[in-house]
Amino acid sequence: MSSKPSHKEPAESRLRRTLAFRLAAAYSLLGLLLVLLATASLYIVLRAELDRSTGLFLADKLNVLRTILRERPDDRDALREEIQLETAARHYQQFYIRLLDDRGAPILTTPGMANQLDVAELVRRTRNGPEHSVSLTGFLGRPFRAASATAWAGSSPARRDTIQIAIDISQEVELLRRYRRWFWAIMLTSSVLFPLLGYWIARHGIRPVEQIAATARSITSTNLRERIRAEGYPSELASLAGTFNEMLDRIEESFERISRFSADIAHDLRTPVHNIRGEAEVALSRARTVDEYREVIESTLEEAVRLSELIGDLLFLARAERPLTELRRERIDVGKLLSAVRDYYEASASDAGISLVADEGAAPVTVEVDRALMLRAVSNLVSNAIAHTSAGGTVTLAARDEGSAIRIEISDTGAGIPPEALPRVFDRFFRVDPSRSTTSGGTGLGLAIVQSITTLHGGQAEIASQFGHGTSVTLRIPVLATS
Ligand SMILES: Nc1ncnc2c1ncn2[C@@H]1O[C@H](COP(=O)(O)OP(=O)(O)OP(=O)(O)O)[C@@H](O)[C@H]1O
Ligand SMILES: [Mg+2]
Repeated sequence: MSSKPSHKEPAESRLRRTLAFRLAAAYSLLGLLLVLLATASLYIVLRAELDRSTGLFLADKLNVLRTILRERPDDRDALREEIQLETAARHYQQFYIRLLDDRGAPILTTPGMANQLDVAELVRRTRNGPEHSVSLTGFLGRPFRAASATAWAGSSPARRDTIQIAIDISQEVELLRRYRRWFWAIMLTSSVLFPLLGYWIARHGIRPVEQIAATARSITSTNLRERIRAEGYPSELASLAGTFNEMLDRIEESFERISRFSADIAHDLRTPVHNIRGEAEVALSRARTVDEYREVIESTLEEAVRLSELIGDLLFLARAERPLTELRRERIDVGKLLSAVRDYYEASASDAGISLVADEGAAPVTVEVDRALMLRAVSNLVSNAIAHTSAGGTVTLAARDEGSAIRIEISDTGAGIPPEALPRVFDRFFRVDPSRSTTSGGTGLGLAIVQSITTLHGGQAEIASQFGHGTSVTLRIPVLATS
């Protein structure tokens, strides 16, 4: 039913809600962001480095020329040679130098400089000092970096020349352009590749979850034995699969218990009905005396009583299982309740040669409980104790106040329960020795009823037994907090 509305949902919005989509989106956004950050910062560093090395080159060159001018002010040839050597050696990078006297008239110029560069702009834009370089665009569109510096000719401060220097930086500009082109190519590839890869990784990662879901979907009451094989799963999902398997174990166990329970009910209902039917058939097979009919009716009545008791017990257990079963709580004296039970069973206990003792303790123990239910629980325990204790034994009924709870303990010196059967005695229809108990009329519901009555009161029932030496059942009922 709940999956119905999703059919109407557009496929796109359904995809957007899948875990794989969200993971893939997160991966790719993160990946793209990282690539962007890395490439952009590399670009910035590269550009700054190129600028810096060009600037250093220009400054170096200016310093060399300044030194020549200062050391040999009139050796024009040395200067020309230096300029020509520098420019002639370069094939791919144009390099221009101009030397001006203090009136601004050019003394020396690299040939062809005026064709490439707007010399007036060079004069206007370059500032004095080797460390200040500026960018210029030549006549043919080539990018240049230029700088200028004052140079003292000789040691006398009388003559002050100016050196202007410009270098073609189209290689660097081209390098940066290629870098940008690569940057966009990488970003484009990443933005296609990352989502695809991310989606694949996410799908791969959550495949075990889908397998778990598929197993869960395929399990019905007929294949409750199926389990998820978690080999090779990552540990988180292996633990999820383990939890799921444990849940299946529990479901399987309760399922088995329920089906055993129904089989037991059917069996226990069938026996008395079978007996009634058999006796009626035998009685009707020929004419009978009045006494014989009376006997049959009496035995039929006995079976009918057994049957109605059994049905009553089953109804009680079914009702007690509903969470909001109401308790008619009243304050009772537990000691008095135990005495009443003892009085009720007194006769049958003394017939069996068992002494029945109600240990009322020093102070009266009072508690707010449903009197009728508590009476039923204690009666069930005492009848069990008497049934499993032989002549000469003792059955003790005791109550103690523990402050936050009261404790009712019914102990006997009887046959005890074998340890392997002890954990199951509170189960419905469980009897340690079914053959013997059937003759004594037990159905195996007594302790189950005791337990549900205790649970209804918010308490716990515990059993301890030493096989061959006796059994003791303790009911711990919490005292209601009075406001
Ligand atoms: N005090 C006891 N000493 C020895 N065995 C006991 C004692 N109390 C219970 N048992 C064992 O536990 C089984 C379950 O007890 P329970 O009271 O639930 O069923 P029952 O007495 O057989 O039947 P019912 O009480 O429904 O008539 C009993 O069949 C008996 O074997
Ligand atoms: Mg019983």
